[in-house]
Amino acid sequence: MIVAKNKKSDNVVWHSGQVTYEDRCALLNQKGVVLWFTGLSGSGKSTIAVEVERRLTAAGKLTYRLDGDNVRHGLNADLGFSAEDRDENIRRIAETAVLFKDAGLITLVSFISPFRKMRQFARERAGKEHFIEIYVKADVETCASRDPKGLYKKAQKGEIQDFTGVSSPYEVPQQAEIVIDTARSSVEACAEQVIEYLNKR
Ligand code: ADX
Repeated sequence: MIVAKNKKSDNVVWHSGQVTYEDRCALLNQKGVVLWFTGLSGSGKSTIAVEVERRLTAAGKLTYRLDGDNVRHGLNADLGFSAEDRDENIRRIAETAVLFKDAGLITLVSFISPFRKMRQFARERAGKEHFIEIYVKADVETCASRDPKGLYKKAQKGEIQDFTGVSSPYEVPQQAEIVIDTARSSVEACAEQVIEYLNKR
């Protein structure tokens, strides 16, 4: 059992069940794991996660995908893009991903997650043997030239504050298990790279 550092009350006691993570994995014939995609907006995180999820499902694996743009419509709709709100965004998602992982699912997480500290938090909460960090690498010029949502243009004009890569920092991963270069490789090749890694593990 891992206890979150920000736990407020000492009067809450862990209650164990009789079915374990290992039982659920055996039932599903797979290992519950967190695939944590990080990178700039427009780097291709969601596109690659969607393709990896499609391939895993086709191979008979049970997956679930958590995506920044989607989760911010519901669970995290109360959060913006200050450093504090981004930390809370990632804290909640790390905790959610751990629950899905414990349920035995291959859990794909695609959030910018710009701060090393919070990616490290997610790694520790999942347990490092259950956590695969995937750096979706594309520099800010490449992402700005793609600009699928027109957000870089707005950020450069000052119409959006604290935009990652423009007016808010992105801390490049130093310990990613997989580095994907979406400026050079196709979506299919990037997805294949992740699947190959999973097969080897
Ligand atoms: S994170 O930094 O907290 O991890 P998250 O992945 O949830 O970010 O959300 C990023 C998405 O929100 C981007 O893909 C983009 O569409 C949108 N967005 C809106 N405002 C910003 C901003 N200031 N910085 C980055 N992304 C933003």
